[in-house]
Amino acid sequence: MALERTFGIIKPDAVKNGIIGEILTMIQKDGFRIAGMKMRRLAKHEAEAFYAVHKERPFYAGLVTFMTEGPVVLLVLERENAIARWRELMGATNPANAAEGTIRKKFAENIERNSVHGSDAPETARQEIPFFFSSSELL
Ligand code: RTP
Ligand code: MG
Repeated sequence: MALERTFGIIKPDAVKNGIIGEILTMIQKDGFRIAGMKMRRLAKHEAEAFYAVHKERPFYAGLVTFMTEGPVVLLVLERENAIARWRELMGATNPANAAEGTIRKKFAENIERNSVHGSDAPETARQEIPFFFSSSELL
């Protein structure tokens, strides 16, 4: 199977809790290659645009506030079947429903402060990767 790339974020709760390293270790142990990585604090307009698909949802304003409260780590992850495998390693959105061995089961505080983001489909990955990375930043 061909290599695939997906987009991920280590969210502000996880950066604040000092678990960047543990999450990166889980990612690398699961067979992903890190093709791009940078730490940034998102501007409000970036978080709004990034999560625009949710703008009518009741949690949208809180989500934008959360995603801009502190630094995040932006990631491009590569492996076979990367999009599905990264969602699997992340676990369910609500950590109460996340499977054992997933990042959200281990680290997420609640349904909002859930430690990681991942593209949910090939079209999403194709939009989200260039939203934050130029081609020269992908190695
Ligand atoms: P993500 O986009 O961050 O990878 O998460 P996801 O696909 O698992 O979940 P999604 O439905 O896309 O929701 C995006 C993020 O919004 C926050 N959220 N809060 N308070 C709530 O009920 C609620 N629901 C969602 C979470 O941070 C979720 O990951
Ligand atoms: Mg989502």
